[in-house]
Amino acid sequence: MTTSSQHPPALGTENPQPPVPTAAEVEDMSVEQRARLAGTLDDVDVVHNQRKWPLAGTRAEKRAERAVALWFVISALTGLAFLLAFVLWPYEYKAPSEEGYLLYALYTPVVGGMFGLSVFALGIGVIAYIKKFFPDEVSVQQRHDGASDQVARLTVTAQLMKAGQDTGIARRKLIIRSAGGAAGILGLGLGVAAVAPLVRNPWKGGDEAALWVTGWRPVNGETVYLRRDTGDPHEVSLVRPEDQAPGSMETVFPFRESDRDDEEALIHALRASDAPVMLIRLRPGQQVVEREGQEDFNYGDYYAYSKICTHLGCPTSLYEAQTNRILCPCHQTQFLATEYGRPIFGPGTRPLPQLPITVNDEGYLVATSDFREAVGPAFWERRYNP
Ligand code: FES
Repeated sequence: MTTSSQHPPALGTENPQPPVPTAAEVEDMSVEQRARLAGTLDDVDVVHNQRKWPLAGTRAEKRAERAVALWFVISALTGLAFLLAFVLWPYEYKAPSEEGYLLYALYTPVVGGMFGLSVFALGIGVIAYIKKFFPDEVSVQQRHDGASDQVARLTVTAQLMKAGQDTGIARRKLIIRSAGGAAGILGLGLGVAAVAPLVRNPWKGGDEAALWVTGWRPVNGETVYLRRDTGDPHEVSLVRPEDQAPGSMETVFPFRESDRDDEEALIHALRASDAPVMLIRLRPGQQVVEREGQEDFNYGDYYAYSKICTHLGCPTSLYEAQTNRILCPCHQTQFLATEYGRPIFGPGTRPLPQLPITVNDEGYLVATSDFREAVGPAFWERRYNP
């Protein structure tokens, strides 16, 4: 143990400082000599120092060694389990009613649990090693200012090496191997976890890839209605134009009749990150600039824009009817509802994707197609399909 004091020794009571050897002289010293010198130069008084195992190779020492190694072995095994679970465990989403749901539901607890156990056992192993093999030492040191010089650095390194020698680490092969195995396997697992997201291809599926299509895409010609979220996925509240007052905004989600009795599909349509759309009814007589190729995307004064900010993906929930601005609260990008969702202030650079809408024979607002560009923050493969 080393303790420090900020108070310099009283005048006339300091120990006379030994001459400081040159770096070349220190290079020629043994590790033992350097370690002793380090203490002297740092004003360290070693009051007590006793090796834990003065007699090498006793049964008690071997038992202590095995106890430490056991923690490293546990760390290595759980690290291996973490690696295998991360790579092989079925992680694809399964609904509660589907076969394989239990395995899917266990993916995160198993991966997280094994990783946590591995780190925990590794930490306990290090602590146990220090407690069982580091010498009992009490030292007192005077604190000094400024950076250490070259001699101090060399001698401190020697002190660390000597500490290693004192614990007999060089001859404790069991601990070296188990600790090396644990650190290596855990490190490998972390490396795989870091690289794995780069291996999965988000563009798998070509034009049907999840980044290109949203829940608004009509499948087999089925009508996609605009619906409200009432809090109950089964309570389907469709939107009619007369429901909305001029100068107001409402958040809507996609709905298909074929999903009506499918709880999973209903919840997914309400929760999918690219699904929310702001349905805005402008005040009458507003001057509107349409984007080329999107002249028929609106229904009268009704305009539908993706609610996902094109800057970093926050919900752009604030609509100011007086100025027709849509405000994202995260970094204050402002989009103009009367100019195809064009950003006019803040860090966002792309317009909010506009959903083409109309009113069907039954008088409900419906989407006529999916968005023509990717929803959310811009990315380097962004494209626009006029
Ligand atoms: S996420 Fe909307 S402005 Fe940054």
